[in-house]
Amino acid sequence: MTAPAARILDGRALAGRIESSLRQEVETFASMFGRKPRLVVVLVGDMAASGSYVKSKAAAAARVGMESTVLPVAATATTGELVALVKAIARDEHGHADGILVQLPLPPHVDTVAVLDAVPADRDVDGFHPENAGLLSQGRPRFIPCTAAGVQRMLIDAAIPTAGKHVVIVGRSDIVGKPLALLLAQRPPLGCPADGTGGCDATVTICHSRSGDIGHFTRQADIVVAAVGKPQLITADMVRPGAAVIDVGINRVDGKLVGDVDYGPVSEVAGWISPVPGGVGPMTVAMLIANTLLAAELRLGRR
Ligand code: GUN
Repeated sequence: MTAPAARILDGRALAGRIESSLRQEVETFASMFGRKPRLVVVLVGDMAASGSYVKSKAAAAARVGMESTVLPVAATATTGELVALVKAIARDEHGHADGILVQLPLPPHVDTVAVLDAVPADRDVDGFHPENAGLLSQGRPRFIPCTAAGVQRMLIDAAIPTAGKHVVIVGRSDIVGKPLALLLAQRPPLGCPADGTGGCDATVTICHSRSGDIGHFTRQADIVVAAVGKPQLITADMVRPGAAVIDVGINRVDGKLVGDVDYGPVSEVAGWISPVPGGVGPMTVAMLIANTLLAAELRLGRR
């Protein structure tokens, strides 16, 4: 007898529902303040993947009725030039900017931290500023990094229990692994459901390149999150039957988008699985739009 296939965590459908409710909130915002929230994106260089992510961010902003501007910059721009540009955006020299985002990665000659630190914390819709990282670590988040927020939201929406469960996150990046670990381990926020499906109260393990046998850890997990950027990193033998597997990876192999999870075989073992594409990716974009609305509301004192 074959095991039942995993339930699919359809991030595209969930992101669509979130966008629908954001569209109404944006409409309310616009009628209250006589203007729309606006996102400004700095796109450095001509990496195809970055260009396509930025396009999908602008398209989502348009779908919910927000304004967005993409400022393309040559790959040869220096750290000083990029810092100056971000500061000029923050002074509203390119039109008002509620949210400011610098698309990563930046070219290797650029000091990424210096550029990101130039984004004012109260417009940092990526949640990368040390003030926002600090607020998250203290359990009073303001802007939560979009992919981490998106993964938590997928777990909550599917009513996958996290309280007292073991989450193994493979990948310790500042963008995904670290903030997600903080989010899922946090104490229940106000209004959190009492049945353990609030996306918090988990026991979290972070694995990384020096963890040795990653399967030793993932096999103990109720929830596995793969966020490394290595195709087929998570194979079926590394997953406990019935576990939820969330694939954050976006890799291009022979012109095809694949995640970090060996999808076919793992979906026969897992209880839930997120596909690539159509899983975490659209959720990241939806959370960015939510953060941009939050930034606009904070700016105008509505929150
Ligand atoms: N590049 C890949 N993911 C992200 C992200 O979440 N934010 C930014 N700014 N750049 C990225």
